[in-house]
Amino acid sequence: MRLLVTGAAGMLGRDVVAAAVDAGHEVAALARADLDITDADAVRAAVLAARPGAVINCAAWTDVDGAETAEEQATAVNGTGAGHLAAAATEAGALLVHVSSDYVFDGRSEEPYEEAAPTGPQGAYGRSKLAGEHAVAAAGGRSAIVRSAWVFGPHGKNFVDTMRRLGAERDEVAVVDDQVGCPTYTGHLAAALLRIAERGATGVMHLAGGGRCSWYDLAVATLEETGLACRVRPQSTADIGRPAPRQAFSVLSSTRADVPVLPNWRDGLRAHLTRVEVAA
Ligand SMILES: NC(=O)c1ccc[n+]([C@@H]2O[C@H](COP(=O)([O-])OP(=O)(O)OC[C@H]3O[C@@H](n4cnc5c(N)ncnc54)[C@H](OP(=O)(O)O)[C@@H]3O)[C@@H](O)[C@H]2O)c1
Repeated sequence: MRLLVTGAAGMLGRDVVAAAVDAGHEVAALARADLDITDADAVRAAVLAARPGAVINCAAWTDVDGAETAEEQATAVNGTGAGHLAAAATEAGALLVHVSSDYVFDGRSEEPYEEAAPTGPQGAYGRSKLAGEHAVAAAGGRSAIVRSAWVFGPHGKNFVDTMRRLGAERDEVAVVDDQVGCPTYTGHLAAALLRIAERGATGVMHLAGGGRCSWYDLAVATLEETGLACRVRPQSTADIGRPAPRQAFSVLSSTRADVPVLPNWRDGLRAHLTRVEVAA
């Protein structure tokens, strides 16, 4: 099928484009320099020209802490920009596969968040992502709103690669052990987003790596898998003090039988490490 991918130079966007090309789809891969999704006219022109069967939106403001002092700019991309894409996709008769985030939840639950769980973002980034979900739904076309979490992959700044770097430089790193979530490898998420586009699945869906762990567990696993001798010291979220609030509990689960099930986060970690080690 013909696919249009926005944010095509981002960490997820690059793996989505690669997976789509590998699967034999015809892909219009638009990085920010090719298409700024805050420009409604440009979005409409690009989508109508490409005549895609589906648009996969990987474009976003992803600076969680920066959004606290730039909420308007974050919302222009994550909220209004997503709405422009949804309006254009609706006009073109295309499915919009829109990537959203665990940050739309408050993180206070003790049970995994299912698709119908009440939202309640705690910070500006989460509010901007929720605004995007609402804008996509309000456009009235066919859309899949896909929430993921704790994403890492070879094409962007991410926690796993930070741990690899610090683990090689230091004897000890301190990592929070009071936030729990589902680390998600871009290679697995990209393949699943493609399946959603191919099947034409619609509605809200949760797609994150299987299992759950804390950032501390993920750091320990990364150092184990890479054979680095660095020690990991647990610390609390309160000890670090970041500008944006972080959710203590960010585990996503799906009640939908038509949503692909992603491999366990540890398999995602190994797949990522194999790729970055081969590339090094
Ligand atoms: N990373 C995570 O842990 C995580 C977790 C859950 C959900 N998500 C979601 O996953 C999606 C992909 O994120 P990612 O991790 O791949 O982040 P990323 O590497 O920052 O990719 C986002 C891309 O969007 C581009 N972009 C920013 N503003 C744009 C605009 N106005 N028009 C067009 N493109 C624009 C960025 O370009 P520049 O780099 O040039 O600004 C970047 O290439 C996002 O929807 C994000 O909210 C991410």
